Amino acid sequence: MKNIIVLTGAGKGIGRAIALEFTKRARENPSFDPVLILCSRTSRDLETLAEACSADGVEAVPVVADIASLADGERLIEQTLGKYGTIDCLINNAGVGRFKNLTDMTEEDFDYMMSVNLKGTFFLTQRVFSVMEKRRSGHIIFISSIAAETAFRSSSVYSMSKFGQNGLVAALRLYARECGVRVTNVMPGAVYTPMWGASGEELKQVMMMPEDIAGPVVDAYLQPSRTVVEEIVLRPTGGDINS
Ligand SMILES: NC(=O)c1ccc[n+]([C@@H]2O[C@H](COP(=O)([O-])OP(=O)(O)OC[C@H]3O[C@@H](n4cnc5c(N)ncnc54)[C@H](OP(=O)(O)O)[C@@H]3O)[C@@H](O)[C@H]2O)c1
Repeated sequence: MKNIIVLTGAGKGIGRAIALEFTKRARENPSFDPVLILCSRTSRDLETLAEACSADGVEAVPVVADIASLADGERLIEQTLGKYGTIDCLINNAGVGRFKNLTDMTEEDFDYMMSVNLKGTFFLTQRVFSVMEKRRSGHIIFISSIAAETAFRSSSVYSMSKFGQNGLVAALRLYARECGVRVTNVMPGAVYTPMWGASGEELKQVMMMPEDIAGPVVDAYLQPSRTVVEEIVLRPTGGDINS
């Protein structure tokens, strides 16, 4: 049976690693048949990734969409439902961060982070949950952050958005438990991805790698449907990077 998986922010970093991990598991287990709906704003990233998944026998569909746009989110879901009839898993991975002193944050920085991390994530979740609630099954996974529980000096607005995402997870669980939908909150510490820009290179030695997050995410999805992995916290072994 096909598993229809919508993955936002698939083009780079952790999202890309999750798509490749699903592909690896399908290769190892021919009875696992994921269909990966790959979403981000950059078509080229998605096409390269979809080709890599397809080369390994996994159906992958690139959908260019900006989750901050409700119209784009709706198109992503309508297109998926139109073609496959259902959604088994939504992975809310798309997220953005701008890191600087609290006193330097602008209204534009604030609106940008909130529109993706909170508004876009909320409305996509709402749309997909309404489908899962009716069919009484499904799995919604959030790639949140350690910054959803811990403050870092340069992450004031990013932290606000991730603390807020934890609020959504908690509220969603109240509904999800009543209808057999699983909700998993993944809170990673520092991961070496393009999100860190140039400073990533300097800190690489004390960071996790995207595949370190992807493995536990796919493991959580592959648990029997009677079991939900509610939280996954992953940190570099040496602890958080303070910035
Ligand atoms: N890296 C870390 O240390 C770390 C730690 C904890 C949690 N996280 C969280 O993990 C998630 C992934 O982060 P990452 O480090 O992999 O980031 P990344 O390397 O910057 O990749 C983010 C991906 O999301 C896409 N994206 C961004 N905004 C989008 C939007 N509005 N609509 C659709 N796609 C969008 C980006 O592609 P386009 O720009 O082409 O759209 C890109 O493919 C984020 O939610 C982040 O907050 C990261």
